[in-house]
Amino acid sequence: MKYHIITYGCQLNHSNSERIATVLEKEGYEKSQKIDNSDLIAVNMCSIRQSAVDRVYGLIPKFKDLKKGNKNLKIILTGCILKKDKKNFAQYFDYISDSKEFSEQVKNFFSVKPKYSSFPVANVPISTGCDNFCSYCVVPYTRGRENCRPAEKIISEVKHLVKKNFKEIWLLGENVNSYKSKIQMPKDKFGTKPEFQEINFSGLLSLIGNIPGDFWIRFTSSNPKDFSDELIRIMAKSKKITPYLNLPIQSGSNKILEAMKRRYKVNDYLKLVKKIKRAVPDIALSTDIIVGFPGETKRHFRKTARLFKKVKFDMAYISQYSPRPMTAAFKMKDNISQKEKRRRDKVLTKILAQNNQKKNNKLVGKEIKVLAIKDKDNFILGKSPQYKTIKFKGERELIGSFHQVKIIKSYPWGLGGLIANLDKNEKEEIR
Ligand code: 5AD
Ligand code: SF4
Repeated sequence: MKYHIITYGCQLNHSNSERIATVLEKEGYEKSQKIDNSDLIAVNMCSIRQSAVDRVYGLIPKFKDLKKGNKNLKIILTGCILKKDKKNFAQYFDYISDSKEFSEQVKNFFSVKPKYSSFPVANVPISTGCDNFCSYCVVPYTRGRENCRPAEKIISEVKHLVKKNFKEIWLLGENVNSYKSKIQMPKDKFGTKPEFQEINFSGLLSLIGNIPGDFWIRFTSSNPKDFSDELIRIMAKSKKITPYLNLPIQSGSNKILEAMKRRYKVNDYLKLVKKIKRAVPDIALSTDIIVGFPGETKRHFRKTARLFKKVKFDMAYISQYSPRPMTAAFKMKDNISQKEKRRRDKVLTKILAQNNQKKNNKLVGKEIKVLAIKDKDNFILGKSPQYKTIKFKGERELIGSFHQVKIIKSYPWGLGGLIANLDKNEKEEIR
């Protein structure tokens, strides 16, 4: 019996799929790379934007065909699913259980050892769900309220990964900065220490940073409103936490931020960026932006564009606003046309590309530490500490270790390089 998993959405969803794979393999299923010869297909969906939901609707004709050819084929749906979609999907799937229900049904879901599928990169969930209720966001309704994993469990998973030579470890949560848990402390010789101590995200990061081994720590996602000075200090101090940060701003207009219920102002964000840059001068920043939120005028949008020029993000995940049922913004009129949303998206993408090209040009000739992650047509794709994509010629064996790469080309979205530990003849050949 074979299974195939299709995953959409964020890293948390991909991480969940790795645990679902283990559950299915325990049931006796074997992984299949192809959808066509599977006996069980699991779709792990995302509802953040309508386009993500539409992708699942788009699979239905294919599923109908497959079922004609294999009467025993079972198709299940999980992930982030809105109530109304659950009803609509019911007739096409044999079983529907969203992430929350799924993890409740499988006892100790987060203790299930995942089939890590992206060596040397590993995703480790530290919390699920969210309590922030940003007015556009479906997450509190699909994943539920914030639920933090016990620190001990997270630490032992990371230790296990380090032992298995994983090199890039992502700590994942909808808002990692609000992580809170209790951790059992060893009693001191006087027995005066409390048995359990409160631990926040900074505390968790310090403990993970103290695990011996040569590996990188990254984390996402951070809400600017909860980004503490303590966290900045730990980022500056730790050699393992990479100088890369995703810090979603969502809009450059205070009016829109207020309507989004983001609970910080543009100035707070800029001050925070300044503080972070002062403490970690080589930090690369990425952000999330929504264009075309209800009521976002051209003037509001120009503020976002101006902010983009000012902050010079290294990466930005730009989304066109999509009304989500159940959210507060769903009641507002989605009054910006598709065309205008697309235009605003393009304006920001262009600024981002121009800034990045300039930044990347400056890296040509420099030598950078790169983690080799995957191969593609005789090339290796890797990441720098700043999370820049670097492409260089090399064999599969390089995957999973760090290399010094000399940058020889720059693009708006990445860099091309030559592995620096090659001898001169090999370099000539590659050129
Ligand atoms: N429409 C468009 N983009 C959205 N995002 C979240 N909800 C919506 C929505 N309704 C974006 C935000 C968030 C990222 C994960 O997705 O920018 O940070
Ligand atoms: Fe991830 Fe949010 Fe999409 Fe759920 S709705 S898969 S939490 S991005």
